[in-house]
Amino acid sequence: ETVVLAYSGGLDTSCILVWLQEQGFNVIAYMADVGQEEDMEGAKAKAKKLGATKVFLEDLRQQFVEEFVFAAIKSNAAYEDRYLMGTAFARPCIARRQVEIALQENARYLSHGATGKGNDQVRFELTYYALYPEAKVIAPWRLPEFYNRFKGRTDLFEYAKAHDIPLPVTPKKPWSIDENMMHVSYEAGLLENPWEIAPDDLYKTTVDPKDAPNEPDVLDIEFKAGIPISVKNVNSGDVYSNPMQLFLYLNTIGTRHGIGRIDIVENRFIGMKSRGIYETRAATILHVAHLDIEAICLDKELRKIKQGLSIKLSEQVYHGLWWSPECIFTRFCIDKSQECVAGTVRVSVFKGQVYIKCRRGDMSLYNEELVSMDVSGSYDPQDAGGFIKINGLR
Ligand code: ARG
Ligand code: SIN
Repeated sequence: ETVVLAYSGGLDTSCILVWLQEQGFNVIAYMADVGQEEDMEGAKAKAKKLGATKVFLEDLRQQFVEEFVFAAIKSNAAYEDRYLMGTAFARPCIARRQVEIALQENARYLSHGATGKGNDQVRFELTYYALYPEAKVIAPWRLPEFYNRFKGRTDLFEYAKAHDIPLPVTPKKPWSIDENMMHVSYEAGLLENPWEIAPDDLYKTTVDPKDAPNEPDVLDIEFKAGIPISVKNVNSGDVYSNPMQLFLYLNTIGTRHGIGRIDIVENRFIGMKSRGIYETRAATILHVAHLDIEAICLDKELRKIKQGLSIKLSEQVYHGLWWSPECIFTRFCIDKSQECVAGTVRVSVFKGQVYIKCRRGDMSLYNEELVSMDVSGSYDPQDAGGFIKINGLR
């Protein structure tokens, strides 16, 4: 039997790759490039060396940004008001390609290295079942024959030594990292104590805001249908209009100014609370700018309904339900709400913050005359008296 394993090159999935062969499987290793800063070619060679009969290294960066990250931006998705969900939005993208490979290679089994306590197992497997209902799942961290053998990292290290599995050259950080173009997340290890302060050298992609430049970067971010279509640096004149290029550019801006660091406790789908630290650079800048372009473009009542949909979508995506009927419906409605969300927001990025400077909408509902304190516009102030009285009737 053939199994397609979502492989990262790290210690856990390397041991799983070898262990699956011990169980009699023909193992195909699948690696997704979603923009993480890692030696992907090195990991590919490692998988081959460990006995994978085939290794697929798939560049998913463009689809991740255009289909998933931009869906996050236009929805304003923020799980429990704060987490922009860089991991949750990546899983359906990663697992979809894994299913495609399994179908193409006639593999009935799919495997991943997520633990039995987390959200990621749910997200991987709900994608498998949605797109490949006959799939059989092997989640080693939920199998007694696996977790009784590998009780901790020491067991993994010993197994690695015994099976000639090359250990990572850089000593593993004492926490768990998930990285892609949208964010880096840190959990576990010393972070498990929520009163423990994260060390300064934890952060991989941002400077400490106190060390950020004393001059802001000022950017014009242009949206169409709720999606960023160009970013212009007002000082340098540099313009980016390709989705991936503009996103990567905003990431470099975010790195320099220390944008998007959060330290939170969140409720996992499985029930327990967990403490996580996140660095979300470009998506934080776009999140703030998008809220502002919506403010000038969206009708008041439409906006309220859309805000409710945003909470729905956040929960659906966090829970791994991207491919569910309710999530497809939510996304459809959110897309509809964005038809008139177009225009430009000018932001200043400075010392860990994104400041809104000004905005203009292509189909703006803002009426300068109507709101003005200087001219009457097509508004009769006498009407307001009756409006207030009737509202006071109760
Ligand atoms: N808690 C985050 C989520 O559920 C991140 C999970 C993966 N992160 C990690 N460091 N292993 O989306
Ligand atoms: C894991 O448990 O594998 C990572 C954390 C999570 O999925 O929530």
